[in-house]
Parts: sequence; C-alpha cells; structure tokens
Amino acid sequence: MTASGTIARVLLVGFMGSGKTLVGQALARRLGWAFRDFDQEVRFRVGLPIPEIFRQHGEAHFREMERVVGAELLQEERVVLATGGGWPADIGRMDALPPGTLTIWLKVTPEEAIRRAREEGPTRPLLAVPDPVERARELLGDRERFYRKADRALDSEGGTPEELAREIETIMISTGRENAPSASA
Ligand code: S3P
Repeated sequence: MTASGTIARVLLVGFMGSGKTLVGQALARRLGWAFRDFDQEVRFRVGLPIPEIFRQHGEAHFREMERVVGAELLQEERVVLATGGGWPADIGRMDALPPGTLTIWLKVTPEEAIRRAREEGPTRPLLAVPDPVERARELLGDRERFYRKADRALDSEGGTPEELAREIETIMISTGRENAPSASA
C-alpha cells in the first residue's frame, strides 16, 4: 500500500467477471465513499458502449481512454475505484499508484468469468471469440503477474458482493484506516 497507512482510495483489480463493480458499489455504500468505474467513465466520455468503442475506434483507442480516465480517477479521495480487467496489465502501472491507494485483487477462474460474462450478455469484446474459456485462460495467464502486485487477494467466489465488501472493510481497518467512519466508531 503506502507510506502513511492512511487509505484514501481502494482500487479493485481483477479479470472480467470478477465482480469489481458489484463489490465496489457495496464497499462504497458501506464506507459512505464515492464509487467510480473506469469502464463507465470511458463509455460516458466517448458516448458509446465498450464493444462499439472497440469496433469503431479500435482497442488502442479504448486503452488510451482507459489510461487517461484511470490517471484522473486515481487523484480522487474517499473513493472506491473499479478498474477494467486490462487496466493493470501495463508495465509499471501497478507500481506507480498514488500514496494512499489500497489495491485488492478479486480472483476468479476463467470458467466462472465466462459463466458470469454469458449472463451479462455481449459486453466484452475480448471474449467474443469461438472459444472464450480458452481466451480467458490465455489473458489471465498473461495478466496474473500484474494482478499479483495488489496488496491483498480475495476469492471472488468466496462470498456475495456484500460479504466481500465487508472483508475489504476489515482489511482497511486492520491496515490502519484513519479517515473513514467505521475506523473511528
Ligand atoms: C477488458 C475488461 C472490461 C473492459 C474491456 C476490456 C479487459 O472490463 O474494460 O472490455 O481487457 O479485460 P471488466 O473487467 O469490467 O469486464
């Protein structure tokens, strides 16, 4: 995490379908903090759904937007941030986070990620391939070394979003959070 031990923001990383958005929303509610989602912000700024951004502008444009949005949102405080699954997979990115950032890796298996992605419909262009489980295995294999840099890892299949949020809150308290309501309660 950081030098001072004061947590200003929680950054959730993990593969597509790991529950970053649901857990992040639940955690933000518990803390009374804001919730911000990188993908949602990119969608809003470009004015298109993610698959359309990939289709019309290409993945490189999406990645650039994601980089810009990520750098901006990481300046906010008292905020829970849900990254897109590919955001951490850039050399040095997980090593250059602003002070006060607690990073949590929500782990998910490729099979469960694909099961959840199917439930949500065709929102993930990278998984729109004939064998999405194989694709998820490859991507996860490439990205694990980046996700692994997070301060803590939680099994996303180990509880409901509310339960996982509660676990993260406990981690925050035990790592010395000073500026959120339940730490001083
Ligand atoms: C991506 C993950 C997606 C979204 C885009 C690319 C990735 O976000 O950013 O489709 O490269 O893993 P979620 O992890 O929220 O699904």
